[in-house]
This record gives sequence, structure tokens and C-alpha cells, in this order.
Amino acid sequence: MRNTAIIGAQWGDEGKAKIVDILSRDADVIVRYQGGANAGHTVVKDGVKFIFHLVPTGALYPDKTCVIGNGVVLDPEQLLEEISCLEEKGIFLKDRLKISGNAHIVFPFHKLLDSAMETDSAAQKIGTTLRGIGPAYTDKMRRIGVRIYDLYHPDVLKERLETNLKYKNAIIREIFHKKEILLEEILSYCMKIASRIESMVCDTGNFLHQRIREGDSILFEGAQGTLLDIDFGTYPYLTSSNPTIGGLFSGTGVNPGQLDEIIGIAKAYQTRVGDGPFPTELIDETGDKLRQSGNEYGATTGRPRRCGWLDLAALRYAVKINGFTRIALTKIDVLDKFDTIYICTGYQISEEEGSISRYPEDSTRLAQCQPIYKELPGWEGTVRGATDYKEFPKNARRFIEKIENFIHCQISLISTGPDRTEIVRRY
Ligand code: GDP
Ligand code: IMO
Ligand code: MG
Repeated sequence: MRNTAIIGAQWGDEGKAKIVDILSRDADVIVRYQGGANAGHTVVKDGVKFIFHLVPTGALYPDKTCVIGNGVVLDPEQLLEEISCLEEKGIFLKDRLKISGNAHIVFPFHKLLDSAMETDSAAQKIGTTLRGIGPAYTDKMRRIGVRIYDLYHPDVLKERLETNLKYKNAIIREIFHKKEILLEEILSYCMKIASRIESMVCDTGNFLHQRIREGDSILFEGAQGTLLDIDFGTYPYLTSSNPTIGGLFSGTGVNPGQLDEIIGIAKAYQTRVGDGPFPTELIDETGDKLRQSGNEYGATTGRPRRCGWLDLAALRYAVKINGFTRIALTKIDVLDKFDTIYICTGYQISEEEGSISRYPEDSTRLAQCQPIYKELPGWEGTVRGATDYKEFPKNARRFIEKIENFIHCQISLISTGPDRTEIVRRY
């Protein structure tokens, strides 16, 4: 296997981890490159469920190296907790997990600010995961963030935290009327974590270049999805990183010439957690049926996911932005239970403005869009248990081929259930 990126094509939770898990078997190194513990990546192995937040999903294979790249915002407490939970399940990581020294740290005060913003009636509620992601990336961009390397330079650390807390405390005090953060407390927190993660910290960019030179296969595990991208998503209802292809390069130091495959992960219908426009959302019994059949509850927060029909205009946009070389379609088994299936092929804006077939990059406009659907017949029986595409019911194949024709990208992997064995390969 060559160097491959796995990228969410919708609003996250597309089933990326399931595909990463399958492809990890043939990879040597699995890399997270953006986002943080807002991710909830589920793998079902022999009936046992594993949920990863910061640790790359490839950790399930004992011989694979896992990397957390410079583009990730890292909550050390969360990481250490995740490592010890995995150890309890017999998965040992410390000598095969590498963390970029340039990754920014998510502190407890970032989480405090995240939840203060979400509950402040004067602020715009996004419906975040409350993992401190937005505030940590804000500090990074404002150039007042703290990186892992800073933990090992006490003077730099103190100076950086002093500057940071000066601004942070003004906001905490004046806007949110909460107790100020004490420098000493944060410094002692840093002392505690520094020694516990030190052996894992390194120049991960250099490490990846070396491994690529030696002929190893690298699998890049995207978090979130294209429509949550800070630049290409539904601003401001999105996350604070670039889950799209550009984030892979800025988040690792690997260059575009070193990547061979970009696989987009798309669910056979659409879901979203948190607020923001969602033209094909079904706020009715059909939406509830999708949620129940697909068990659509957040892997990180447990929140019920909003559900709707597959939006092909949005998927075509994701193909364009990321340059997917192929698609893995997940959760098609969930549609087994539907007599009629709808796919959105464009939008009606208003009577005067008529319809468009292109996904509008202006999210305010997206919020005004009504979906235009094509109706497709459901299928008899189930796709579950199929080991070959030919075993799929005819209408399931028609559904897949309709999608391919519309988005001009081949669907080469089809996931037919949560277990790692439930996969059909086409090309
Ligand atoms: P990720 O964040 O993209 O990795 O996806 P999540 O783990 O948040 O959510 C996907 C959910 O769907 C998980 O509970 C998976 O176990 C489950 N899942 C993945 N693929 C399939 C599939 O093909 N069929 C069904 N029924 N469930 C799936
Ligand atoms: P995975 O990797 C689905 C959503 C949140 C919220 C918005 C901003 O499991 O696909 P944040 O905490 O990032 O500031 O929240 O983004 N969100 C996700 N939705 N899957 C995810 O990750 C998500 N990570 C963030 O629900 O709407
Ligand atoms: Mg998820």
C-alpha cells in the first residue's frame, strides 16, 4: 500500500475510523494531523467497541507506529487517559506513539472558555464538543499558544504563559465573570505532564520523511469532515482546523508529491452534530428512523446526530476540494430498511432565483436552500453479509452507480456494517 489520506467528505462521523482500521493492516505508520479530542473514531473488533479521540486508530495493531502531527491541538490529560484506557484493554502504546513537539497544547482554560462561549447568551452558539478546540487554535493563530516543545524550555514556557494569561484572564474576568487562572497552577500542571509525555515527543515531520524514504506506507487519518473545514465549511458552524486535504500537509510537514491516494469517506445518507445549515435534514419520522437504524449518537459527546438524505451536490463539492482519488461509502446497510430512498442533486433557492446544481460556498445562501431530490426505489433484502459487489441487491447497485455518475469519482469500498469484517471491495 502506498501513502494514503482518509478524509471525511461530509460533516464528520462518516465512519472514517472503520476504513482507517481496515487499511491500517497494510500500513506501517498511522498519522493524525488536525483537530484534537473533538474527534470520536469508532472501531468494532470482534464485537468490542473502541473509541479513539487523539490516539490514531491504527493503535489497534500492535506492530504499527502512531503519530500525532504538528497540526493537532493536543490535550495532554486526555491523551494520557486514553493511553491508560487502551492499556487496560491490552494495547500498549508508549514506545510506538510519537508526538510532534510543535503541536499546540489544549489547557483546561481552553475547555473552560469553550463552554463559557457556548453558554453565553450574547455569543454565537456553535454546538461544539467542548474540548477546547476553538480556543486552542485561536491562541495558535494569535501567536500566544504553548507548544509541546515549550514544556522543556522553562523560561520560554513561563514567558509565553504570562502573556497568554494576561489576555485570557481579562476575558475570563470581564466577560465571563469567572475566577482568574493562576500562572503557578498552570506551570505546575505543565511540570506534571512534561515528564509523562517526554519520551514520545519528537520531530514527527522528519520521522515521516525518513520512513517514506525507507519505503514504509503511511496512512493519514483525517478527523472531522470537509463541510466542517474552517475555510470550506459552513462558517461559523464548523471546527477550527482544516480537515480538507491542505490540512494534511500543514499538519505533518509531508509534501504533496509524497501522497499517492486520497480516499473520501461518505455515509450513504447525511448526518451532522451541532448547529448550522443542513438542507437535506429530516425533522420527522424518517429522520428518526435513520437515527435509530444508524445508531446516530455522537461518539465523543453522545448527542443525537441530526439525520437526512444524502446530499450529492455537497459530496461533489468535497470531491472537488480534496481531489479524492476514490470514495469509501459507509453505512449503506442502514438504507436496507427504506422502501424509497432520496438523493439531493441540487437546490431550489427561491422562486425568483430558481435552482442551482452547485453547492453554494456561501453558507448563508446554503441555509436558504431547499433540496431537489431524485427518488430511487429501495431494495429487497439486505447488503449485510455480502462479500462481493455482485451479491448486492440490484437496486443497491443502482444507488451506488447513480452516486458515482453524479460525483465523477469511483466508489471502491463499501461498508455494510460496523464490524471491521463488513466491507466489500470493488476496484
Ligand atoms: P468517524 O468519526 O468518521 O470515525 O465515525 P464515528 O465512529 O464517529 O461514527 C460512525 C459510526 O458508524 C460508528 O458507530 C461505527 O461503528 C459505525 N459504522 C461504521 N461503518 C458502518 C457501516 O457500514 N454500517 C453501520 N451500520 N455502522 C457503521
Ligand atoms: P470526527 O473526527 C462530527 C463539530 C461539533 C460542532 C463543530 C465545532 O469524529 O468525525 P469543535 O468542538 O470542533 O469546536 O466543534 O464541529 N465536530 C464534529 N462533528 N464529528 C467530529 O469529529 C467532529 N468534531 C467536531 O459538533 O458542530
Ligand atoms: Mg466521529
